[in-house]
Amino acid sequence: MKRAIELSINGDTYDVLVSPNNTLLEVLRDKLGLMGTKRGCDLGACGACTVLINGEAYLSCVMLAIDAGGKDILTIEGLAEGGELHPLQSSFVEKGGLQCGFCTPGMILTARAILNEEENPTEDVIKRKMAGNLCRCTGYKKVVEAVMSANESDENAGRPEGQEA
Ligand code: FES
Ligand code: FES
Repeated sequence: MKRAIELSINGDTYDVLVSPNNTLLEVLRDKLGLMGTKRGCDLGACGACTVLINGEAYLSCVMLAIDAGGKDILTIEGLAEGGELHPLQSSFVEKGGLQCGFCTPGMILTARAILNEEENPTEDVIKRKMAGNLCRCTGYKKVVEAVMSANESDENAGRPEGQEA
């Protein structure tokens, strides 16, 4: 039997009818048309479907939508503000941290979660915490450079809105 839930996504509230077994990824893409969250493996193994929930990175393909009710969800569509790319997005572009772009929303949101948690993460910390985000194109080096660069060039790259320095 379907249930009505309220999802808070990128600052907007959505009322949706979901089946108990609907994943958050299914609801984001198939019911709400938020296609920036990618469906890769659909098994919790590639990181393409990463979203932030209350500031932490989660794999939306293995999370039930009903468990995301009442929480603060951020997808890649909510990262840019006022038509300006987020510092992490700019840095990925500038440093060549993306090629086909399929993994990029998940990569950037995982990076955002890392910068939320750690003020100045080392290269090793970034590599370890991004190990669950797979990429077939970049070879990862430029991804790590992009995250380091965003952190160095913008002190607000990882801070939640309203908590900027
Ligand atoms: S699509 Fe979710 S981890 Fe691969
Ligand atoms: S840029 Fe193509 S999969 Fe990562």
